[in-house]
Amino acid sequence: MLETKNGMYLPTDDFASKSHADQATYQAMYDSSVEDPEGFWGEHGRRIDWIKPYTKVKNTSFAPGNIDIRWYEDGTLNVAANCIDRHLETRGDQTAIIWEPDSPEDDALHITYKELHANVCKFANVLKDMGVKKGDRVVLYMPMIPEAAYAMLASARIGAIHSIVFAGFSADALGARVAGSNAKVVITSDGAPRGGRVTNLKDNVNQALNNVADDVKCLVVRRTGQQVAWRHDLDVWLHEAAQNVSDDCPPEEMNAEDPLFILYTSGSTGQPKGVVHTTGGYIVYASMTHQYTFDYHDGDVFWCTADVGWVTGHSYIVYGPLANGATTLMFEGVPTYPDAGRFWAVCEKHKVNQFYTAPTAIRALMGKGPEFVEKYDLSDLKVLGTVGEPINPEAWNWYHNVVGKGNVPIVDTWWQTETGGHLMTPLPGATPTKPGSCTLPFFGVQPVILEPTTGEEIHTTAAEGVLCIKDSWPAQMRTVWEDHERFEKTYFADYKNYYFTGDGARRDEDGYYWITGRVDDVINVSGHRMGTAEVESSLVAHPKVAESAVVGYPHAIKGQGIYAYVTLMNGVEPSEELRKELETWVRKDIGPIAKPDLIQWAPGLPKTRSGKIMRRILRKIAEDDFGALGDTSTLAEPEVVEDLIANRMNRH
Ligand code: WTA
Repeated sequence: MLETKNGMYLPTDDFASKSHADQATYQAMYDSSVEDPEGFWGEHGRRIDWIKPYTKVKNTSFAPGNIDIRWYEDGTLNVAANCIDRHLETRGDQTAIIWEPDSPEDDALHITYKELHANVCKFANVLKDMGVKKGDRVVLYMPMIPEAAYAMLASARIGAIHSIVFAGFSADALGARVAGSNAKVVITSDGAPRGGRVTNLKDNVNQALNNVADDVKCLVVRRTGQQVAWRHDLDVWLHEAAQNVSDDCPPEEMNAEDPLFILYTSGSTGQPKGVVHTTGGYIVYASMTHQYTFDYHDGDVFWCTADVGWVTGHSYIVYGPLANGATTLMFEGVPTYPDAGRFWAVCEKHKVNQFYTAPTAIRALMGKGPEFVEKYDLSDLKVLGTVGEPINPEAWNWYHNVVGKGNVPIVDTWWQTETGGHLMTPLPGATPTKPGSCTLPFFGVQPVILEPTTGEEIHTTAAEGVLCIKDSWPAQMRTVWEDHERFEKTYFADYKNYYFTGDGARRDEDGYYWITGRVDDVINVSGHRMGTAEVESSLVAHPKVAESAVVGYPHAIKGQGIYAYVTLMNGVEPSEELRKELETWVRKDIGPIAKPDLIQWAPGLPKTRSGKIMRRILRKIAEDDFGALGDTSTLAEPEVVEDLIANRMNRH
C-alpha cells in the first residue's frame, strides 16, 4: 500500500531507489533545466543518435511578431534510424511491438526490432516506388495494426511528412485534411475491425479522394480480406508491392528542424489546424518523457491504449517507446469487447508493466464493476498513467484501489497535441501525488498562471487563472501548416511573450497544478478535442437549420458532452425525426465523435445588441446552473433565455 501524508500518496523507498529519478534527482534536474536550458538540453539531446551532431541547442523567440522556435538547428539525424537501426546490434531479437488484435480469439503478434527494420524498409521502398520524396506529405487513415507504425516510420525514414487522420473521422473530414496538406499518397486498409464491427476504410478513402483530389494514390494494407472498390490506375496493395522491393532502405539525413509530422487538431475558431512537429527536439523530448514519466526500464512491456490517430499514440505508442528500445503494445480493439475485462485480460496476457489510458475509459469500466478487474493477475503493473482530460478523484481512487491494488503509482500527465510530450506530470519515483492534480512540471517546463483579463503573472504560490508557458521546450509545435500567422494568433497573441495553452489552472499552496478545463471554445469529449465552431458550422450547413450554438456540458462518462442549440429555418417544424437527421448529418460530416448528445430547439439565441451570441449563458443553461446566469439585461431579447431554460433537455 502506498503511504499517504497530508492527503498525498508517497512513492515507496524501494520504488524511488530503483527509479530513474527520486525526489532529490527530480529537483536537481528540474532546477538545472530552467537555470541552464542550453546546458541541460545540450546534454540530454545526446540520448539520440545524430548523424551530424548539433553545436547550437536552443534558439527560440516568443517575441510578438517574431515567433521562431528552433532546437538543435544545425544537427542532422533520422528518427526511424533512432527508433530501429540503432537497437539492432543490442536488441535485434527483442520484441519491439506486441500487437493484440480486436478479437481475443485471434493470435497476437510479436515483432522483433530486426523484423521491424525489414518491414519498415520495405514499406519505405514501396512509398518511394509510388513517387514519394523527402518533404512530400503522406496521409494515414489506418486501423491500429502494426502497418500503421510501419507507415509512420517508413515516412520518417525517407523524409516524408506524415499526417494521420483518426479512422473514426468521416470521408469528408479525411478529404479536407488530404487537400489541406496536398498529400501525394493516402495509406489505408481494406477494413478496420473494432469491437467486433468492421468499418470500410477503403470506401471512405475513395469517397474522400473523389471529392477533393482524384489523382492521389492509395496504398492499401490487407487486414480483413473484404471486397473493396479498386481504382486500378491509382491503388496499390502493400502485400503485392512489397514483394518487389528490397528490405533495406538507407535512412535519409534530416535536419533537426525538418518537419516530422502534421497532426490536425481542433481549436476555438474555424476548421482544425495542422500542428507541425519537427524532427530533433521532438524525438529527444518524446523519448525522455517516456523514460522518466513512466519510469521505463529495459525489458518492461509498455502499453498506451490511445489510437495512433491522436498525439498520444504518436509520442507514446510509436516514437517515445521505440526511440528507447522498448517493447510497446498496440491494441486494435476497444475496452469493452468482448467484455469490460478486456484491458485487464491483455495486461495479464502480455505481462504489461506500464499502462496508460484516458479517464473516460476508467469511468466507463468503473461503472461495470470491480469483478471484471479482479479476475485477472495484474501483479506486473508498476506504473499507471492517465491523459486527455482532468481525472475526477472518484475515478482516480478506483484506478488506484481496484486496478493498482493500492500500491501502483499513478501519473496524471497533462499535455497537448501542440506540446508534443508531457508538460506536467508526476514522476513515479519522485513526486507525491494528489488525486486530480497533474502535480509539477517536467524538466525544462515553466508553467505560469496569468490573471485572465490583465495578463499579469500571478506570483503567489496559490493562484488561479489561465495557464501559459514561459519559455520553449524541445517538442513544442513549430507552426501551423502553411499558416504561421495563425500559429502566432492562436498561441501568442492573447498573452504576449508566453505560449497560451487554452487551459485554465489552479496552483495550490504546495505549488501543485490542477487543470480546471479549457477557457476557450474547445470541448473535451471522451478525451477527444472538439471545436464547438466545427460542430456549429456542420449544423448550419443543413438546409433546415438557420442558426446553431454548441457548448459542452458535464457528462458522467465522457467528461463533457456536446450540447447543441438549434434554431430552425422559418416554417420548419421541430420533430424527433429531424433531431435524428441532424445527428446523422454531423456524424457523416465530421465523424461519430462529433455527434451532438443533446439537441435543444431554440426559437432564438441570446445575443448582445451587436449580435454576438452570449455563450456564457448557453453554457450555464446546459450545465443546469441557472442561478449564475449573470447580467442578462444587455441582451437584445432577454426573454429568449426564459424559453431556453424552460425547454432545457434532459431535465430531471
Ligand atoms: C486536456 C492530449 C487535465 C487539456 C494529450 C488540454 C488534460 C487538452 C490532461 C489537449 C490532464 C490533456 N488533465 N486535462 N492530464 N491532458 N488535457 O491536444 O484541456 O488532444 O488542453 O492532447 O486536453 O488535448 P489534445
